[in-house]
Order: sequence, then C-alpha cells, then structure tokens
Amino acid sequence: MKTSLLRGWTSISSYQNGCMSFPPIKEAKGIYLYGYNGKKYIDAKSQMMNVSFGHGIQSFKDAVIKQWDQVAYIPTMDGHGNNSADELAEAIIGILPGVFESVYFTTSGTSSCEVAIQIAKDYWWINNKKGKKKIISIKGCYHGNSSMMSEISEYGEQNKPYRLNDLDNYLKVLQPYCYRCPLDLNSSDCGCKCADVLRQQLNQYNTDEIGAIIFEVVQGSGVIALPDAYADVLKKFAEDNDILLIADEVLTGFGRTGYDFAFQKYGLLPNIVCLSKTISNGLLPLGATIFDKKITESLREREIFIGSTQDGNPVCTMLGSAVIKHFKSENWSERVKNLGEYFLFSLKNSVLQYSIVGDIRGEGLLICIELVKDKESKEPFEGMEVIHKGFLENGVFIFVENNFIFFVPPYIIDEKTIDLLVAKCKVIIADSCG
Ligand SMILES: Cc1ncc(COP(=O)(O)O)c(C=O)c1O
Repeated sequence: MKTSLLRGWTSISSYQNGCMSFPPIKEAKGIYLYGYNGKKYIDAKSQMMNVSFGHGIQSFKDAVIKQWDQVAYIPTMDGHGNNSADELAEAIIGILPGVFESVYFTTSGTSSCEVAIQIAKDYWWINNKKGKKKIISIKGCYHGNSSMMSEISEYGEQNKPYRLNDLDNYLKVLQPYCYRCPLDLNSSDCGCKCADVLRQQLNQYNTDEIGAIIFEVVQGSGVIALPDAYADVLKKFAEDNDILLIADEVLTGFGRTGYDFAFQKYGLLPNIVCLSKTISNGLLPLGATIFDKKITESLREREIFIGSTQDGNPVCTMLGSAVIKHFKSENWSERVKNLGEYFLFSLKNSVLQYSIVGDIRGEGLLICIELVKDKESKEPFEGMEVIHKGFLENGVFIFVENNFIFFVPPYIIDEKTIDLLVAKCKVIIADSCG
C-alpha cells in the first residue's frame, strides 16, 4: 500500500493495517457509495457529516462548472471581492435571524471558529476593553484542529503538543453529559443541577477578563445537547456581563438537528455564528463566520487582518449559493426532525435492550449509541474495531469515535433505509455482546 499520503485522525501504520479504515470509493450517488471492491455501501456518516443533502446533486455541479468557466479565482482580501461571494453573504444573512449583518468566508469549520475568536478579541480591543480576552468553552467540545481550536476543544491527549497550553486564558466549564453526570446525579430527577453549578462556576470569573463563550448547541462528540436550563444560564451570564456568545454551528447548521440552526431550539441569539460542512455539502472547502450588528458596526473603520488568500473563492461561494437554494427548496429541517425521531425510536426499541448499549441519544439526524462493557459499571466498550468492521461487512459506513457509534445520514434517507440500518445494527450489536 502507498504511504506518501498522510491521513488525519489515524496513523500511517493503523491505516496500513486496515484498522478503522474504509475501502476506497469509486462512485457516489444519493446515500450510496460504490467501492472499487464492487460493494455498495450506505453512507450513514455523510462523509464526516458534510454531505448532508446526499451525493451527486446536479444543480451543485452546474453551479460550480458555470462559475469555473467565468472566473475561478478572485480573493476576498486586499481590496478584492467577487459577486459570487457577495451573493452568498446576502443569502446567508437572509436565512439567519435579523440581527446578523456581515459574513467572512473561510475554507473550513476550524477557520470559521478561529476567525470568530479573533474578531471577538478584536471587538473588545476596538472598544477599549483589551482585558476581555479570555475565552470560555464547554468541556468535551470540538471546534477544530488549529493550535487555538485545539486549546479551546477538549479532544483527548493526542493534540497536547500543538495546543497553546494556556489554561489561564482558555477556560472550560462543566459539560452537561447526562448519561455520565459530572455531578453523579440521576438525570430523571436531577432538577438540572448542572445549570446551578455552571452559574457558580461562571460567577467565580472576573467578567472584565472574559471576552466570549464559544459553544456547540449540540456537542458533536457524543451528541450532548445542552439542557434548556443550562443554555439559559449561558445566555443570562453573557447578557448581564457584556460577553459575546459564539455558536459553533459547523456541524449542526442547515437542518442537521431538526432546526435550521440549532440555537433556534433555545430561543437564544448568539453574536457570532460559525458555519461549514453542509454549507458546501462538503464538496469544496468553504466556511463562514457571521457577525451581528454591533460587531459589524465596530468593524466599520477597522482593517481586519485575518483569513487566507484562499478565502471567498468564487467557485466555492457559488456552490454555497446553490446549496442554500436547495436548502430553501423544501422544509429539510422538518423532514430531519421527523426522520430523526423515527430513527431514534426504532433504535431504542431494537438495541437498547443489549448489555453493551449504555445510552442512545439524538437530535434530528445526529444520533449516537454509547457502548459500554456493561450497563452497571458504564465502563467504555473496547471492541469498537469489530463494530466498525461489522458495519462495513454489512455495507454501511458509520462514524465511530471512542465508544460511540454515530448515525449521521444524508437528509434524503427514508424510513425503509432507516429500518434496514436498525436491523443491521441489531445484528452487529447482538454479535458483540459475547
Ligand atoms: C462543531 C465543529 N466545529 C468545528 C469543526 C471543524 O471543522 P473542519 O473539520 O471543517 O475544520 C467540526 C468538525 O467536525 C465540528 O464538528
């Protein structure tokens, strides 16, 4: 096997040994992937949760080719700009609540979050509150892989060498992980004590030093949705203390959780929204960071020294406009909500009974099964490699991380295919129970 390509989230030797790897794909259509090995697979992970509308959509291809033929590269930097990026910025502002006024285009989710933090810090600098430079995030979060995002995220030990390792300026508050309650309470009668503890934790900080709170409304890693009371505390703390709220919707934006944007579930309005993944259906590198009126106003006379010469590429942004047109062409969020409820209910009915299934939780078509050695000890299950291989043998690509199985299929999945996935899942889990 060739080894010159370095792949992320694996090692050269793991990949060579076929450990947690996937077969190369020759063709993709709808929710199906066709391997060089002649096998057909259901893409139940939407390719790292990017291809939310499915593979092979003609209008996306047409938009890209048309723009490519006209002008394929003009940056949005150094006084340049292009109509395609302008058009997409207007389209994004059009589908978000009215408080948002400006958009910076990036090339990934990581860079969207990076720009959000840079501009949040700049906002306080411009407003003569230079001390407000500390950033709060929630334990267990994932906001990307740059040095600053590795610092803000909490993603195992692997990234320690390239984090900023600056615990004074990057603070973490408790994670509302109900199945493994950090307060050791039972979620059925806990009274959402984590919200009280969060409040106490936040109140200990010197708010003159806090610039922003960045959060995933539903944490991708483990599918941890913020309880209402917890979200309320974040919102009130930010309002009362002049702190910016940054919603990372890189994974959840554009309907994934059954809401157009996941923050809408909580009736809270962030100051900054980070997008990527579904914004281009994963087909070209594209992300966006969107700012509310007050931040936009403060930037009016400011030369913002951020981003990359690749940002705002007209082909990528034209694709983004085609995706938004597609997103608006039917009520995808409603569809995702209904199918997600059906999927979750079917999974709970079929597999929750097995000894290694600790918890099943989901928001829209973002569903996670947490596997354990046994329900009593809740110790993480260790045979994930076998589970991964079991799904591949059964013709399914799933996302496996730690002791979690994720189902994040394209929105075009139907009930019949969900039934098939649940049936396959049942067999694989039953086989792994020993
Ligand atoms: C919530 C969230 N933020 C940021 C990122 C980073 O995005 P990217 O991989 O495009 O850099 C991800 C990626 O999975 C994500 O899920």
